[in-house]
Formats: sequence, C-alpha cells, structure tokens
Amino acid sequence: KYNAQAASALREKPLYQDDEYADVDWDNLGFGLTPADYMYVMKCSKDGEFTQGELSRFGNIQLSPSAGAIYEGTKAYRKENGKLLLFRPDHNAVRMQLGAERMLIPSPSVDQFVDAVKQTAYANKRWVPPSGKGSLYIRPLLMGSGPILGLGPSPEYTFIVYASPVGNYFKEGIAALNLYVEEEYVRAAPGGAGGVKSITNYAPVLKALSRAKSRGFSDVLYLDSVKKKYLEEASSCNVFVVKGRTISTPATNGTILEGVTRKSVMEIASDQGYEVVEKSVHVDEVMEADEVFCTGTAVGVAPVGTITYQDKRVEYETGDESVCQKLRSVLVGIQTGSIEDTKGWVTCI
Ligand code: COI
Repeated sequence: KYNAQAASALREKPLYQDDEYADVDWDNLGFGLTPADYMYVMKCSKDGEFTQGELSRFGNIQLSPSAGAIYEGTKAYRKENGKLLLFRPDHNAVRMQLGAERMLIPSPSVDQFVDAVKQTAYANKRWVPPSGKGSLYIRPLLMGSGPILGLGPSPEYTFIVYASPVGNYFKEGIAALNLYVEEEYVRAAPGGAGGVKSITNYAPVLKALSRAKSRGFSDVLYLDSVKKKYLEEASSCNVFVVKGRTISTPATNGTILEGVTRKSVMEIASDQGYEVVEKSVHVDEVMEADEVFCTGTAVGVAPVGTITYQDKRVEYETGDESVCQKLRSVLVGIQTGSIEDTKGWVTCI
C-alpha cells in the first residue's frame, strides 16, 4: 500500500537538498549501480500479509544469517562421555567449493571452512543436546553481500556459520515416511544447478512439497526433467532403493545433490557386503523394491513406508530387521562415538 503519510513527510522535509537533478553524469549511464536516494521496504508476515511499508534512505539492510544462499549442513554430536564430535566437515567444505565454483563465487579453503565449523561448534557447546537426544545442526553459508544491479558476480561475499540444536527432521520422528512421486514439477534439469546446495535448489520444490504435505505426505520424490521416469531425489534428501542384496541410488550427474550422508551410507553398505549401484533408477523399479530409504544430514537415514505414484500406492518393508535400520545404526554409532571410527570420519573437538 502506498504510504501517503511517509511520502508527504519526505516531500516536506527531504533527507537531501531537493535539487532538480541528482549529481549524476547523465551522458555516461551504463548499467552499474548508482543508488537513488530512497528505497521502499515492506515486510511480509508469516501468514503472507504485507503490512504498511515505508521509504527509507538507500542502505544496507539487516538480514538474518538463516536467510540462506549457498549453504551447507553438518552436525556436532555429544558422545556419552560428554566430548563433542563432528562428522566429515571437510566433505561439506569441498561441496561448498564445488557449488561456489558453479555460481562463480569465491569460497573459503577447506581448512578455513573446517576451522570455522570447529570454532562455531565449540563456542556453542552448551547447545549440543545430551547424547541420544539430537545434535547441533551447523549451517555454514556463503552469500553475495555487495551491491550490484546487473548480472555478474557480487563485489563482496560473506561466509557465515551458525548453529541450532535439532531433533528429528520429519514430524513422523523415526517412523516410516509416506512419499509422493511428483509428475508436474521438476526440481532440476541437466546442465542446471541441481547439484549445488544453494537456495536455488530448494525454492523450486516448495510448491510441490506444500501440496503433497497438505495431502498428508511426508515429502515428494522428483523425477528427471526429460523423460519423467527416472528417480532424482526428495525435496530434503537423497533416496536409496533396496532389492535383495542390491542397493541402488540415482547417480550424481549434476541434477542431484551429492550428500555426505549418501556417500557414507554407500560405504557402510559396501562394507556389509551389499552390492551398491549408482545408476538411473526407473520409477517402476522403485515401485517393485523391497525397501526404500532416504538419507541426508538433516534427515539422517529415514525409512520409507509407502510411495504413491499415479494411482498406485506401494508399501515397503521397515522395522528393526530392515537394511535401512542396519545401516542407520552403524552410521549413528560412528557419528555419536558408540562405534569405533576406523575410517577417520569423526573429529573430536
Ligand atoms: C541438510 O540435510 O543438511 C539440508 O540442508 C536439507 C534441508 C532440507 C534442511
């Protein structure tokens, strides 16, 4: 809504001398940023309502660090003896570098990244939940923070790490998830940025996700954008399909995220003698699987109870004897220090 009162107050008492023209070289205007005096700011509440905005002088705005850009997610766990453990933060560092390179953003070195994660975790150690109660989710993020009007890299970037204690990602807790196969919306296309962990990767799923949630599903499974027949990933996590002793997961070809949990679970499954295959996974194969499960830093290793595709709903094996549960217990054991880490995945801080 036009804020007539604020506008008229500005006319009466402008912030600047009200000359006819600003001090600009009018004959040499390119598409660089020459900020005009005022900007209008109006905030939207959680319920989607824009309340009255107002004019203010052009300048930096305050932004919550959790507003997001290119971001990462890693966790700190508390061991039974109280010590804090980090799980493979160097892999998050490398993934941020790869994503940043795709977006033409400079990124911190692996050492800088890991050091920042360690410092943040240690400084916030009183927020790490007691052993078995959850973890401290640590979010490193990288955003363009400099002024620019045209299309090009930002003149300044900011790297931030913040943390929050978390429990289960899904409201189902550790109960099996009900997934919906989305056929209208896709989350990424070949050559795009589906493999980059940035907000550009998550914003496009929100519509499909909110529709599926309103119908009672836990999350959405996306198909490839070309044939709409091959599994990609869920809105929040990677996906695995189990048939007998074979565990398949969509190959990372630029359209899905290379999850650190995904990679770790693949290694644990191979160690346990499963045949682990990265390939194109056809949706029909998913519907005929014994088990399906999801992996991600936020999600952990989560069993899938049902998948609905077109007019078909399939149920999968879950429970203590499931492959998902066996892999999950090894991963969680290593992450929380109850199983010896023979792989060098865990760092004690
Ligand atoms: C993570 O697993 O760390 C993520 O960032 C996923 C996001 C949906 C919370």
